[in-house]
Amino acid sequence: TDIAARAIEIINQLKSAEGPLLPILHGLQEEFGYVPPETLPLVANALNLSRAEVHGVFTFYHDYRSHPAGRHVLKICRAEACQSMGGDALAARAVELLGVNWHETSADGAVTLEPIYCLGLCACAPAAMLDGEVIGRLDEEQLQEIAMEVRL
Ligand code: FES
Repeated sequence: TDIAARAIEIINQLKSAEGPLLPILHGLQEEFGYVPPETLPLVANALNLSRAEVHGVFTFYHDYRSHPAGRHVLKICRAEACQSMGGDALAARAVELLGVNWHETSADGAVTLEPIYCLGLCACAPAAMLDGEVIGRLDEEQLQEIAMEVRL
């Protein structure tokens, strides 16, 4: 397939780097917007790793996606400073309002919800990021706006 052919190019470009697994996964996600599951065996092959090893690393890092993202990506900080500022309740509310679970994309393709672990905005907790733009002191009202906006 085209995906496999392109993936092999990326893998070959990066495989001689030191500690090549993460750069390769990163390169694949840059290229496709996610890491297509069928490329993982190619990675394992090229690096002489087992599929289980590659899969383990892939699932360990929260930044890699196994599905294409929605039109919008909302990342909500789940790290400590944000949690202590009501981030937990807010995160639960986001799941409700967006109708989507963590790491998932809504059925209409509008939005993907992802956890992130510290955006460096602890002073403005709880923090989030919508399509690459940081949001400080996220509150319920803003969440409601976001839930509407992503569906426009
Ligand atoms: Fe959320 Fe640092 S803990 S921005």
